[in-house]
Formats: sequence, structure tokens, C-alpha cells
Amino acid sequence: MSPVQTPNIFAPVSTPAFAIRDLSFVVLAMTVAIFLIVGGFTLYTLVRFGRRPTNPQVEPAQVYGSAQIMLAWTVAPILIVVVLFLVTARYIYGIERRPQPAGALEITVVGNQWWWEIRYPNLGIVTANEIHVPVSDGDGSTPTFITLKSVDVAHSFWVPQLAGKMDVIPNKTNRVWIEPRRVGTYVGQCAEYCGLQHTLMLLVVVVHPRDEFQAWVATQQRTSAEQSAARPGRELFASLACISCHTVRGTPANGVFGPDLTHLMSRATLGAGAVRNTPENLRAWVKNPGAFKAGALMPAMNLDDAQLDRLLAYLVTLR
Ligand code: CUA
Repeated sequence: MSPVQTPNIFAPVSTPAFAIRDLSFVVLAMTVAIFLIVGGFTLYTLVRFGRRPTNPQVEPAQVYGSAQIMLAWTVAPILIVVVLFLVTARYIYGIERRPQPAGALEITVVGNQWWWEIRYPNLGIVTANEIHVPVSDGDGSTPTFITLKSVDVAHSFWVPQLAGKMDVIPNKTNRVWIEPRRVGTYVGQCAEYCGLQHTLMLLVVVVHPRDEFQAWVATQQRTSAEQSAARPGRELFASLACISCHTVRGTPANGVFGPDLTHLMSRATLGAGAVRNTPENLRAWVKNPGAFKAGALMPAMNLDDAQLDRLLAYLVTLR
């Protein structure tokens, strides 16, 4: 994974994000114009009249109740607000009304406290926290349509360079689509306060060239090859409570409360950005996830060092 970039709405790479940047420039231009006019009059008044000696004998012009002036400062702001409303509505409509084309990739993202489940329903892939999609470049458009669900509380899906923010709400299905034009890694973050570890809900979107994406799909669809050296660890894993929360495809582990571990080692971080996914960190994570992510729903497994070593020897084969 390339170094984490700063999410920036002014550096869009995907169709909805381009529209959002354009809209923010329109709004910015209008508000800057208003600021300059108001600020300009204020400055002019200060400079022109500020130094005059006050003459208590002469009363300033009394304009209280002037219908013209009241109309002017009521109608002008209303017009400005109406224009902003119409322009914004047009952009929102343009983004939300795009029909899903036949060739679009479909993904379901499920918000959990505090990680993201990523499902590819048509490809049979389930992963976590890292979304992989194909690029839409000069060779054609392969947009990704994302269905958003939550199993617990309200979260918010936001990858600023790819699309606008969309709430992820229990018992409601929301949708968002992206059409990244440039290969790269784009980061996002849960954007709705959802509990203790709201800050550790990192989202990573990796945009691949098409052939590279197909290769990623093929790898994810395979189950990891069984290695004889990993057998003691695999048996230990199957004997522990791990399998009631985690799935490893092709094994008895079929829990759904925690992230799918079939290709655990293909992911860059543990705990949705809590720590880099290295064997050492993974070992410490299994020993006590709370050390990295207080409040994580995965319990400390209370394994001794020998058991941890065995388990690790198995987990690192899940590539
Ligand atoms: Cu999930 Cu904030």
C-alpha cells in the first residue's frame, strides 16, 4: 500500500467527486463575491467617514422603516439562497439519478463497530476495510456501485477523492457510486461518530488497472493452499472460539461477527487502520486486541506463547 494520502475534496479522481468539487467552487465564488462586496463597503465606510469629527448637533439620516431598503436586504439574500439551492439540487440529482450500467461492479459495504465488511456478492468475495475496484480510464467506464448497510449504529462512508459522504444506517440501505479515473490508493474514514473507536474505521480504496483487478479477484476467490507446517495451528484455530466469529473459506470456520480471514494477510492493516498487518503485530493483536484498539469487540484470547506461535504459523498462510 502506498503511503496514506490526506483525503482532499479538492483533488478528485472520480466522477461524483469532480461534480462535488465544481459545486464547491460555485458556492465558494458566490460567497467570496458577497464577502468582497460587504467587506468593501465596510472598509470604504470606515476610511471615508471614520475620521470625521462627530457633530452632536447634526442627526444622521433616519432610514428606519424604509420599505426600499428592507426589501433590498430581504430579497437579495433570498435570491442568493434560491440560486444556491437550485444549483446544489441539480448536482445532487445528477449524481443520485445515474442508473447502474450493466457492466458495473457491485459491492456491499457493511458498517460494524469498528470496521467495514466488504462484500462482492457477484464474485463470492468477502473482505474487510480495503476495497479493490477497477479503474475507469480512456478504455471505458467500469463504475462501482456500492450498497451501504450497518449492523449496529450509524456510520458514514466517506472517501473524499471518490464520492460524497453517505450515511450508513441500521435498517436502511443507502447507495453511492464511484468511477475512479486514475489508478491509485485513496483513503477515507468513517465520518459519523459511532462510538469509542470511531477514529479507527479507516477505509482504503485501491484502484487497479483492469487486468490487475481481475488478478486480484482470482486470488481472492481461491482459498489459501493448505500447508502441512500450518496444520497444528489450523487445528488450534478450529478448536478455539475464533471460528464462531470469523470465516476462513474452505474450513469449518464460518462465523460472521468478525472480519473474514480467508485472505487476512493480503490486507495492509489490522483493526481497520489500528496497526500495520505484520506477523509480530498480528501475534500481539490476537493476544490482546485491546492493546491496539480499546473497546474492540474481539476478546483477548488468553493463549500462551506456544499456542500463539502455532496459531501465527497458520494465520500467516492466509494470503
Ligand atoms: Cu463508524 Cu464512526
